[in-house]
Amino acid sequence: MLYLDYLASTPVLPEVLVEIERAFKDCYANPSSTHSLGLAANETVQAAKEYIADKIGAYPSEIIFTSGATEANNLAIKGLAFANQNKGKHIITSAIEHKCVLNICKFLETKGFTVTYLQPTKQGIITAEAVENSITKDTILVSIMHVNNELGSINPIQEIGEVCYERNVLFHSDAAQSFCKLNIDVLDMNLAAMSVSAHKFGGPKGIGFAYIRDARNCEIEPVIHGAGQQLEIRGGTLASPLIAGLHKATEHFKFDHDELLTIRNEFLALLESKRIQFKLNCEHNLVNVINIQFLNERVSNFLSDSLDICVSKGSACSSREIKPSYVLTAIGLTSDEARNSFRISFFDRSLLTFAMTIHHV
Ligand SMILES: Cc1ncc(COP(=O)(O)O)c(C=O)c1O
Repeated sequence: MLYLDYLASTPVLPEVLVEIERAFKDCYANPSSTHSLGLAANETVQAAKEYIADKIGAYPSEIIFTSGATEANNLAIKGLAFANQNKGKHIITSAIEHKCVLNICKFLETKGFTVTYLQPTKQGIITAEAVENSITKDTILVSIMHVNNELGSINPIQEIGEVCYERNVLFHSDAAQSFCKLNIDVLDMNLAAMSVSAHKFGGPKGIGFAYIRDARNCEIEPVIHGAGQQLEIRGGTLASPLIAGLHKATEHFKFDHDELLTIRNEFLALLESKRIQFKLNCEHNLVNVINIQFLNERVSNFLSDSLDICVSKGSACSSREIKPSYVLTAIGLTSDEARNSFRISFFDRSLLTFAMTIHHV
């Protein structure tokens, strides 16, 4: 089995597993309870908030735990849109956001909002200029992802943040693919909201968070109404063992850019030396992501049919669809080129074994 699909999900880190087991045993009380065990569970939650907040230049009170990035995107985009609709009803996003963001925007269109879907450059980038040119006096929110989940392309979040600051528009970014891989400073990036998911960096599935600027005073509509937890922004008993796991993953996940770049370069050199014909769909991207077209149909068919080589055609959520990836067609690929394309995401030298495997096809 070759696992090369780390953008879809990562295995839980060993330290995280140990921590989750500890927290399930020690932190079973409800973190909202005021007895000693409840206070212990709450301490675990607060420690996680402090660590995460410190990592992104936020306050602990600005971290709102969710079930993952899908829910965080729902909270940030719907929550900010509904709470600010008296100021305007125009939203700007991109045509290559994660499907959940596109579906949230589609839903908001049925509620009277208008949405501009910006087209990317051929390298999968949304420029600050494109954002600036689309802002109107009715614009209340810009939502542009940090790293694209199919291409690994990296958007100029700081520049987009500056434009939003100058035009007084709220800025949200889906950072599910960048948190713990690229530096994030919510103040420098002028982020009003940001979404993160633990299972993208060695944490458990079912937990993530939304950063909400000045959450105590922010105008935001909850998506999940509850019994007053998390400043009434997100109801539901806090999943303290999963939060402990998210905390540990944030501490222990390693993203060694130089080492990953060496493996990537060795892989591409190996393909060339073995005369495997290919084309990269995106060149300047997150270093452990390779979105690649194989020009030999035998290789494409082999990868499409193989159950033991875990790579992705398009993104995982839509990879069972027959349609070519909307992200690849948005950057100008034909349907055939998109169909012969694969997203390879790696963290170790098993990428080189992959090159040798396809050489023998
Ligand atoms: C960019 C992006 N946003 C959102 C999500 C959804 O995250 P989750 O699985 O935590 O709901 C993903 C994961 O597939 C993603 O890559």
